[in-house]
Amino acid sequence: MTSHSLDDVQDVDITVNGCAQRLTVPGHRTLLEALRENLGLTGTKSCCAEGECGACTVFLDGRAVNACLVLCAEVAGHEVTTIEGLSANGPTDLQEEFLASGAVQCGFCIPGQVMSAEHLLRSTPQPSEPQIRDALSGNLCRCAGYQRIVRAVQATAVRRAADHD
Ligand code: FES
Ligand code: FES
Repeated sequence: MTSHSLDDVQDVDITVNGCAQRLTVPGHRTLLEALRENLGLTGTKSCCAEGECGACTVFLDGRAVNACLVLCAEVAGHEVTTIEGLSANGPTDLQEEFLASGAVQCGFCIPGQVMSAEHLLRSTPQPSEPQIRDALSGNLCRCAGYQRIVRAVQATAVRRAADHD
């Protein structure tokens, strides 16, 4: 088995937003740094860098994770989806509802909020308000737009249910 120190540079093959990528990164580079600095995907925000704020939320094999807590080398062979991948075909219905409900204030937390909310809606299409608040509890908003964020998620759930009728 090959062992690497955190300073060793290595090639990491991952799939990001459906595209195969080979990233050459030191072992200490986080997934968040790799997305922003190697790939220029700056929709994933860097804030606390210690798993407290949720601004860096991405999907890793469909699970919502804090990209600042994951080393890039750890995700070799795995699939990452960022906010850019979620909205590759334009704003999603969820993003439209964030805008319509006035949930977007400075906007800094919004990509992470959207990723967490989308993750919830995929597993729980009709979430209760407590379920929404629980799912978004790891995403902090300095502008304190929580009520409007909850309303945006509720409106998206209603819209998706209507779309399936
Ligand atoms: S930047 Fe990752 S949780 Fe705050
Ligand atoms: S909208 Fe400003 S931090 Fe949430």
